[in-house]
Amino acid sequence: MAFPKQIRLVDVAPRDGLQNEPEAIDTDTKLELIDRLADAGLRHIEAASFVSPKWVPQMADHREVMTGLKRRPGITYSALTPNLKGLEAALECGVEEVAVFGAASEAFSHKNINCSIAESLERFAPVLERAKEANVRVRGYVSCVLGCPYEGEIAPAKVAEVAKALFEMGCFEVSLGDTIGTGTPLNAKRMLEAVAREVPMDKLAAHFHDTYGQALANLYAVLEEGIAVIDSSVAGLGGCPYAKGAAGNVASEDVVYLLDGLGIDSGVDLDKLAATGDWIIQAIGRPNRSKAGVATATKLSDTSG
Ligand code: HMG
Ligand code: MG
Repeated sequence: MAFPKQIRLVDVAPRDGLQNEPEAIDTDTKLELIDRLADAGLRHIEAASFVSPKWVPQMADHREVMTGLKRRPGITYSALTPNLKGLEAALECGVEEVAVFGAASEAFSHKNINCSIAESLERFAPVLERAKEANVRVRGYVSCVLGCPYEGEIAPAKVAEVAKALFEMGCFEVSLGDTIGTGTPLNAKRMLEAVAREVPMDKLAAHFHDTYGQALANLYAVLEEGIAVIDSSVAGLGGCPYAKGAAGNVASEDVVYLLDGLGIDSGVDLDKLAATGDWIIQAIGRPNRSKAGVATATKLSDTSG
């Protein structure tokens, strides 16, 4: 199959990238990160998470982030909302897109959101209803699509079942999360083929973490299958608090470099994005996990004298 001509990139760094940071990151740094990503050409930024601050303290300033960001036209700033409480708070802050997050693994569902998969779907139904009333789009995540930290292998049929349930419930898109980054290209393809029998390919997104260094290869594999929405995180920041040892998302700079090389338009300026990655890792004292980001930032600093 031919590659898509255009890809929609969703930068999840302000949420997935920062949610697991042990030291408090001030709200202004988060706001600047969001604005720099927008300036680099990202049109979709996952900005915050309306979860319990007891569960994820780093996201406790969700209201300040959502109301403090400098909204630019044409850009969607989304937020995670696991339940009605989260959704109501997000609506008060003027959110225009939210996401519910389920899993293809029972054990992970319990650890991450304190309920079974079936209970999570029951909990999401009123979130979708209320969001629809408020004219807010809802994205659905499925975690552990290529493996679970507690259960190991996950059957593609289980991923397809949960993705279908989210789609039928009204999610406009379902993002498939390799939460612990254990997937490899063949598994990724097989999983996607199973899901795409239940949910149209153009309603699916790839959300791959890079723990084993396979995320770019996995993305190439699913691009061949027709995926046209990719989640990534600038500088490869991130990890999930309930998936110990899992590395960050695939780095946005690496994805943009790959897409540029394939002649696929992402609308993102690699130099500006790399400068953003360079800035945020210095601001929070983290290593830059993007090879294309480091190479580009080095080239830029060499040429600027
Ligand atoms: P629970 O303890 O079962 O909830 O947690 P509860 O309804 O019994 O409430 C307990 C307390 O939490 C109460 O407060 C509620 O008010 C409060 P208390 O009376 O004890 O003071 N509460 C909330 N506070 C703020 N916002 C809310 C909210 N809801 C309840 N929305 C809950 C259930 C879902 C809330 C909890 O398990 C939770 O917050 N989990 C979030 C876990 C999380 O954020 N994980 C990381 C994101 S998922 C991810 O990274 C994967 C992804 O990237 C895809 C991939 O990579 O695969 C998306
Ligand atoms: Mg994730």
